[in-house]
Amino acid sequence: MSFLKSLFGKTPAQTVTVQPSGLELTVEPGETILEQALIKNIPYPHECTVGTCGSCRTKLLSGKVDAITPFGYTLSKEELEAGYILACQSLPKSELTIEIDLQEEGDGLVATPARIASTTKLTHDIMKVEWETDLPMGYRAGQYVNIRWNAEQIHRSYSFAKAPEKSGQTLLATFIRHVPGGAFTDLLFSGEAKSLDYELDGPHGQFWLRPGKGPILCIAGGSGLAPIISLLSDAASKRARRDTVLLFGARAKRDLYGEAEISAIKNAWTAGFDFWPVLSETPEDNLRAGLVTEHIGPALERLGPDTQAYLCGPPPMIDAAMEELVRQGIPLDAIFYDKFTDASMAQ
Ligand SMILES: Cc1cc2nc3c(=O)[nH]c(=O)nc-3n(C[C@H](O)[C@H](O)[C@H](O)COP(=O)(O)OP(=O)(O)OC[C@H]3O[C@@H](n4cnc5c(N)ncnc54)[C@H](O)[C@@H]3O)c2cc1C
Ligand code: FES
Repeated sequence: MSFLKSLFGKTPAQTVTVQPSGLELTVEPGETILEQALIKNIPYPHECTVGTCGSCRTKLLSGKVDAITPFGYTLSKEELEAGYILACQSLPKSELTIEIDLQEEGDGLVATPARIASTTKLTHDIMKVEWETDLPMGYRAGQYVNIRWNAEQIHRSYSFAKAPEKSGQTLLATFIRHVPGGAFTDLLFSGEAKSLDYELDGPHGQFWLRPGKGPILCIAGGSGLAPIISLLSDAASKRARRDTVLLFGARAKRDLYGEAEISAIKNAWTAGFDFWPVLSETPEDNLRAGLVTEHIGPALERLGPDTQAYLCGPPPMIDAAMEELVRQGIPLDAIFYDKFTDASMAQ
């Protein structure tokens, strides 16, 4: 970034007002909004810092920014039209007013040595992995943990797949999908990962159930079911009286899993709860067919217009679902998502 700073030598620093907190940042020339926020120890949502994950999505209320990498690689057409920017890629060109929820990431961050305690195959390409940690880790339902293996600097992120326990826990569950050619998941699915040493740090992320009394539409694809199960199990235990539809997109019946967890949620749920698996390639009697996006309209007919939507899984599914939700009249600020980006999406 010092190269960028030298390019911006004589440009003045810009004041950035962050709403609704009213906080003010002075962003130096060549510095991004996120960089200045992190220097000031502000809990600004972020993960990749290079414009690929969308975690730092921020609404620009007034002013102009330059984008280091075009926001359109990561943000949808609807988000761009609504004035969203990526704070990690934004260099202020004028005074700015932005809007972002500066919520703490939940319980305090913990970094701890860990081991794989157990692995269970859920489908031909998804495995439940339980991690035993030396220190207890607390989290909010929906968040994720970063894992590093054999003291490598690179990490992989995995969402917690269970509701959290109040005082934190030393046994953490994740659902991990095999990405052929992937550095970590190849080790996991070949059996080699079991004997490695790990460090886990977390919790991370802003994907959790927002307060409200309105209905909930959850849309999951592949291992994206993990944080949805965590979030809904937790909401069920807290007696959330909110009508809910869970859409789960899969290719064929062999890709479906999590029946026991979903049945437990449905049994404990204190309002309407529908689980709609949708098969895109091999239809089955009694199951919905097509893409999950085709079932968003019927789900919203059931739930009503004041629905909050929670999306998790592969980025193309999330982008398509978001487009459809907006087309159906759901405002962007009622749509929450976690994109499972991987190395193949880095620019
Ligand atoms: C917030 C978050 C939460 C997540 N939660 C989950 C979860 O709960 N469950 C889950 O299964 N996944 C989750 N993921 C994805 C996960 O973190 C990993 O990215 C995924 O498991 C792949 O890791 P890998 O090491 O096997 O593959 P990688 O080594 O990252 O490779 C992925 C793919 O990219 C290709 N590739 C590698 N390098 C390059 C390159 N330079 N250019 C182009 N292609 C390349 C590889 O061949 C492979 O096909 C999450 C991701 C994020 C960001
Ligand atoms: S932190 Fe900005 S896009 Fe990932």
